[in-house]
Amino acid sequence: MERWRTIIEPFRIHSVEPIRLTTVEERQAALEAAGWNLFNLHADDVMVDLLTDSGTGAMSRDQWAGVQHGDESYAGSPSWYAFLESVQALFPFKHVIPTHQGRAAEKILFSVVAGPGKTIPNNTHFDTTRANVEFTGADAVDLVIPEGQVPSAIHPFKGNMDVDALEALIAERGAENVPVVFVTITNNSGGGQPVSLRNLRAVRAVCDRHGIPLFLDACRFAENAWFIHEREEGQAERLIPDIVRDIASLADGMTMSAKKDGLANIGGWLALNDDAVAEKCRNLLILTEGFVTYGGLAGRDLEAIAQGLREVVEEDYLRYRIRSTAYLGEALDAAGVPVVKPFGGHAVYVDARALLPQIPALEYPGQALACALYREGGIRACEIGTVMFGLHPDGREEPAAMDLVRLAIPRRTYTQSHIDYVIEVVCWVADHAADMRGFRIVEQPAALRHFTARFEPLP
Ligand SMILES: Cc1ncc(COP(=O)(O)O)c(C=O)c1O
Repeated sequence: MERWRTIIEPFRIHSVEPIRLTTVEERQAALEAAGWNLFNLHADDVMVDLLTDSGTGAMSRDQWAGVQHGDESYAGSPSWYAFLESVQALFPFKHVIPTHQGRAAEKILFSVVAGPGKTIPNNTHFDTTRANVEFTGADAVDLVIPEGQVPSAIHPFKGNMDVDALEALIAERGAENVPVVFVTITNNSGGGQPVSLRNLRAVRAVCDRHGIPLFLDACRFAENAWFIHEREEGQAERLIPDIVRDIASLADGMTMSAKKDGLANIGGWLALNDDAVAEKCRNLLILTEGFVTYGGLAGRDLEAIAQGLREVVEEDYLRYRIRSTAYLGEALDAAGVPVVKPFGGHAVYVDARALLPQIPALEYPGQALACALYREGGIRACEIGTVMFGLHPDGREEPAAMDLVRLAIPRRTYTQSHIDYVIEVVCWVADHAADMRGFRIVEQPAALRHFTARFEPLP
């Protein structure tokens, strides 16, 4: 039991960025100019930016010091070796291939192992992961446990994969057509929910029975390890780096966006044990990202990640991180706002479908809620629902499994008073939910439409 209820930020502020305070009228004009797509806003017009926790965190003094150590040699830079050592200290895979961010690692891996006729199972594919799988002609199948699809269902490891469904899928498609099984930790698109060690072991056993490699989409591995530490039997006394190494030992490889639990503003990697696949991946890396010892990264970025990986597994940091996310979730829940529970590690997800029952899924309740939060309070959130997942490669549109709005918390960036302000705005918008209307899309690309589509409010 902690003596004090308040868990303080385990850092002091060292350098500040001003926030421009705006009015409702200014924000209404900005929304109209942006085609009601929050990705089209000028970030200066946003007061509290909860669009993503990706690359938006504050770096530490020691990371900035690492930046000064950056060595920009084309090949064999000391910064590469610092990066490699830090990555392998947690994920001792044989081959580590640096990339400019997570999706580049996905693009390279799926170009090598996926393709028409192949199926990639995942607990839940993140949007770029799904798009990269489908771009090769393969089928991306989500197999999260049933509780993971019900926003109000309570389960300590709601990101777990449904192991029976995985068995059934492999039986249906044939093991030879499943080149890899993926598990995303934590499960971002399913609410930032963790996966247990026990579930990973069970998935590993299925993979072993069929000779299929298991890969992690490990963007938020440290947050996932903290949940294991807090919630899984027998894990409370263990060190976080040891839990991370346990997770890694169950997999054959990983893709990683260092913009999350790398505590860096850019970067990523692909790591794996298979020599032949690694060689093919490196060849593609050189074509698209850069030489094998820097990928798409500057030496200074490699240094920032190397230090970030040491900081992200510190218990004081993780305790504060997970507690501050839960602080937001608990306040919204107490005010009667429907939120995904238990709270995820990096974000709180509001159930827009439940909050706005008058807006059908194909009129995008999540988009309506996200736009209202911006208009009323200058808060930028992200729709994770039918806009993001509703359009299929064959042009069909159907409701996504859930219509959520994600309030993602950048790491070490906002203070408790920013979050108190967010709570106030969300509660005001929720109180006025009955007045809200949906949207229609007036312009959209064939894939990843949420980034660039333009909308129009329905009358
Ligand atoms: C689970 C997951 N996988 C992959 C990615 C892609 O990483 P990046 O944005 O670095 O390309 C993200 C980014 O948000 C993610 O959350």
